[in-house]
Amino acid sequence: MNGPYASIAGVGSELPARQVDNHHFAKYLDTSDEWIRKRTGIVRRHLADKDAKLCDLARPAAQKAIAAAGVTADQIDAIIVATTTPDRIFPATACLLQDALGVQGCPAFDVQAVCCGFLYALSCGEAMIRAERSSCALIVGADIFSRLVDWNDRSTCILFGDGAAAVVLKAAANPGIVALQLGAQGSSADILTAEGHPQRGEFCGKPVTRMDGQSVFTLATRAMIESSLAVCDQAAIKPDEIDWFVPHQANQRIISAVAQRLGIGKEKVVATIAEHGNTSAASIPLALDSIGEQIKSGDRVLMYAAGGGLTWGAALALVP
Ligand code: UT7
Repeated sequence: MNGPYASIAGVGSELPARQVDNHHFAKYLDTSDEWIRKRTGIVRRHLADKDAKLCDLARPAAQKAIAAAGVTADQIDAIIVATTTPDRIFPATACLLQDALGVQGCPAFDVQAVCCGFLYALSCGEAMIRAERSSCALIVGADIFSRLVDWNDRSTCILFGDGAAAVVLKAAANPGIVALQLGAQGSSADILTAEGHPQRGEFCGKPVTRMDGQSVFTLATRAMIESSLAVCDQAAIKPDEIDWFVPHQANQRIISAVAQRLGIGKEKVVATIAEHGNTSAASIPLALDSIGEQIKSGDRVLMYAAGGGLTWGAALALVP
């Protein structure tokens, strides 16, 4: 296939100022810093204040990505926000963000694929660029997942953090997103879900996260391995030819299990889980931003995720 191709031109991120460490949970729940570190790898997470707006986190992340890409906001011609925790039922957070950035007229929409949302949004942006419907797309992964947490459920509340991160995808003459694969298995919806929906002005059901942790652990690990291998296959490369592995940050044990199965050394695996926890759609771009200084032109970056749905995916990017 010929160009235009889509290439990641800039990355930016934003975290809420407030950090909460594991000891906080041990004060009121039957848990401990030791259990959380050992079973998840999480040490602390950033949590947004109760009245915080997702758009207020997404805007500075987007502005940093726009600056890093060397473009101006008025050059952005598509905005896609991956989130499960939008500020409103509608309009989309992408529309609110468009206004906050002072951008006018371009398509703006949200994508909801929970922890895999960033890769789904990236795929939409890549397809728009390949189809010449965009030449400079802003892709944001942002979640205030703490909105969906039952603070008395020790098996889930210790896992999540809040954050936002963005990339600018630009049209390029050479391949940038080299390979991409997405999937979903709706029959596993109930193992990780936040039920509840609005009806006639009321909220029906409890809008908090419930998870069968072990089932998700098993299925997510398998899905990320298969997706990563499929993407390597598409690109006709072996996992050990990849420079950076940027996984969704759900559990250090999952990150390590996938890396081991792919046969890659831990020096290539980007892990931010200790500091961020699971930030859902923001997780991959936040991790990507954390290696901004170390990444070089020509590096191959494999991103992979799995989350509620069950959704999964992987994308291989070549650094321009
Ligand atoms: O981002 C979307 C994808 N999400 C994921 O990929 C998450 C996948 N799942 C996981 O990361 C893990 O399953 C968890 C971290 C959620 C749980 O770890 P686990 O090793 O699978 O624990 P478990 O659910 O098998 O529970 C083991 C024990 C249980 O006690 P009993 O029944 O053995 O007495 C739990 O009640 O650990 C208990 N437990 C806790 N103990 C202390 C569960 N949560 C806690 C806690 N502190 N916070």
